[in-house]
Amino acid sequence: MQTLFINIKELVQVREKPMSFVGGKDMAILPTIKDAFLLVDNGLISDYGKMGDCPELKDVEVVDVSGKTVLPTWCDSHTHLVYAGTREAEFVDRINGLSYEEIAQRGGGILNSAKALQYISEEELYSQSKVRLEAIIRLGTGAVEIKSGYGLNLASELKMLRVIKRLNEDYALPIKATFLGAHAIPQEFKDNKNEYINILIDEMIPRVADENLADFIDVFCETGYFSVEDTDQILDIGTKYGLIPKIHVNQFTAIGGVQVGVKHNALSVDHLEEIRDQDIEALKQTKTMPVALPGCSYFLGIPYTPARKMIDSGLSLAIATDYNPGSAPSGNMNFIVSSACIKLKMTPEEAINAATINGAYAMGLEGQVGSITKGKLANFIVTKPISSYNFLPYSFGNHCIENVYLKGRVVE
Ligand code: NIG
Ligand code: FE
Repeated sequence: MQTLFINIKELVQVREKPMSFVGGKDMAILPTIKDAFLLVDNGLISDYGKMGDCPELKDVEVVDVSGKTVLPTWCDSHTHLVYAGTREAEFVDRINGLSYEEIAQRGGGILNSAKALQYISEEELYSQSKVRLEAIIRLGTGAVEIKSGYGLNLASELKMLRVIKRLNEDYALPIKATFLGAHAIPQEFKDNKNEYINILIDEMIPRVADENLADFIDVFCETGYFSVEDTDQILDIGTKYGLIPKIHVNQFTAIGGVQVGVKHNALSVDHLEEIRDQDIEALKQTKTMPVALPGCSYFLGIPYTPARKMIDSGLSLAIATDYNPGSAPSGNMNFIVSSACIKLKMTPEEAINAATINGAYAMGLEGQVGSITKGKLANFIVTKPISSYNFLPYSFGNHCIENVYLKGRVVE
């Protein structure tokens, strides 16, 4: 089955040759074709070009998108969207003066979500999570990574990962799963962190790998959570079991998380609100993608990742939502793209690259999504009529999406 989209005002993020990611000065380049067509065959992008070169085809469904822009769907490479319940009481506590760290020290924060998750059935967890997944698809996300990490014991971590697996089977977008057993130290191990790490290493990682429930392994490498040495140890075992590291670093303190990530060839190091010159140096010439999460900075009122400095130093950058109940309860990538421009001082070209091709790379999906390239999935956004792609980040708080297509089919 072929579908031909004609009269596209501007076809954005067209990459003729497959590429892994863009970095440094190249992030400012966003190739487009004005007055374009796009041909979809069997769920894949099979051709595109200028309207003047549009092929005459029989038996093809034609969709006229005059005045509208087409771009690849957003690639959200960092979420925790499978969770139980919500945490708006902590939101109010923070307005009244408590910090995220203080709430966590009182046994709130991640441990609060872990408590809720222990008692919820797998079915109910699936039902709550699928509502969020469907909402982000309608907001233009066409590939997503989802973490465990609110289970913090074997049974509950497996429950989360099975829900992620089921979402991946039931929905048309690619979903990557990350095992984040090292997200917090459970209450019962608060004076005996090493015992929990031993359980992670001896029981949880082997079981997760055995059941093939995760692609990646994550650790919250942070003061008061898991140290650099803990992270090193956990990643060592994780990689032995075939899980690729993709870790939380430098959110509140810079303690060497970037370096331990690079040491283990992490696919990405995420957060980076607190970043030192030596951290930027450590990332140069590596294949580790730095990922900024401006929704978390916005919501918690913590510093924004210094994207300008990083890109001007030649680094690549991806942006993602961090969708979770504690530090970023929004999965809206349109807002993230706006925030990247407004708060991280990225240009629209840089922000769109960060949210598409670089986001795809940060979850190992650069061969399938992230650009308009022949052979990739036909996952794309058709905008409402807009004057230029600059309007996307400019119109913050609104989105300009008319339709989202996954594998060439419109999302109802
Ligand atoms: O990425 N920093 C660690 N994990 C999440 C927050 C989790 C939570 O508060 O529930 C984050 O910000
Ligand atoms: Fe996170």
